[in-house]
Amino acid sequence: MQDKIEKLREKALKLIEDVKSSEELERARVSLLGKKGEITGLIRSIGKLPPEERPLAGKLLNALKREVEEKIEEKRKTLPKVRKVKIDTSIPGRRPKTGALHPLTRIEEEIVDIFMRMGFSVEYGPEIETDYYNFTALNTPEHHPARDLHDTFYLEDGNLLRTHTSPVQIRVMEKKKPPLRIISPGRAYRFDPFDPSHSPVFHQVEGLWVDRDVSFSDLKGTLEAFGKELFGKETRIKLVPHYFPFTEPSAEVHLSCPFCKEKGCRVCKYTGWVEIAGCGMVHPEVLRGVGIDPYQWTGFAFGMGVERIAMLRYGIDDIRNFYENDLRFIEGLR
Ligand code: DAH
Repeated sequence: MQDKIEKLREKALKLIEDVKSSEELERARVSLLGKKGEITGLIRSIGKLPPEERPLAGKLLNALKREVEEKIEEKRKTLPKVRKVKIDTSIPGRRPKTGALHPLTRIEEEIVDIFMRMGFSVEYGPEIETDYYNFTALNTPEHHPARDLHDTFYLEDGNLLRTHTSPVQIRVMEKKKPPLRIISPGRAYRFDPFDPSHSPVFHQVEGLWVDRDVSFSDLKGTLEAFGKELFGKETRIKLVPHYFPFTEPSAEVHLSCPFCKEKGCRVCKYTGWVEIAGCGMVHPEVLRGVGIDPYQWTGFAFGMGVERIAMLRYGIDDIRNFYENDLRFIEGLR
């Protein structure tokens, strides 16, 4: 027995000596001192020895056990520490930052979607325009006083940044013949101060419907259906007489305030109504200019402000919020 114990001692010390990681050390410990470990096994077998051998075997095995335990502890100190990370599963997870469409893009898409469901198709035009498309073809020749209202950005080559999306009407009517039913979303530019209600760049959605016998009531019905679709069934519109050179008659489109339901509030400046678009019946001169016979065809047109509508949707009173790229603001509108 003494021999056996001495051999096991040598084996155990060598085993511990050769260990290289805390996992290996734990494995060595279990193989020696665990329930089925070799030293544990020998200790258990003491009972089977002749009674006179038991005291010595017990003493030696206890000493071995203690020695091995000490060696294991010593070894443990020399091994690199593996830190146990405590995971707190109750902490809320970190949300990954996801991209999202800008609120103006979303509103524009919503507007386009409503008109597409009414049978309009989408057309685009250039943001750098010629004087002809932006003004002249829209019945606004040189020296026409309406040009002053536009505060145009002119480029050195004589072209300009379009002041509205209306030139797309001309481009489309030049290419395609009626019946026509199109909308055109896009950016427009005006030399305006950047203040709570103006931005030198802004968005419009232009609309044009030319067919036989298109009437002012078609215009009104279309805009009213649009308003109800965007802001709810109780929404009303009212057409307020106005002047645009390219339509006759012309009107401003006023929408019943979606916030106070016409009672009057901060958003509608206590009038119950907000202006969202200009509109009218396409001027016969404009049709004639693109080779469409105004005795055969009539049309209506409108141009609406996307920022205006977005401000109403979100209850925002400063247009600059859309352009300052403050994520705290933009994310708040999701
Ligand atoms: N282009 C006009 C503007 O920017 C809005 C407008 C008015 C567009 C009447 C139209 C229209 O198509 O018929 O102020």
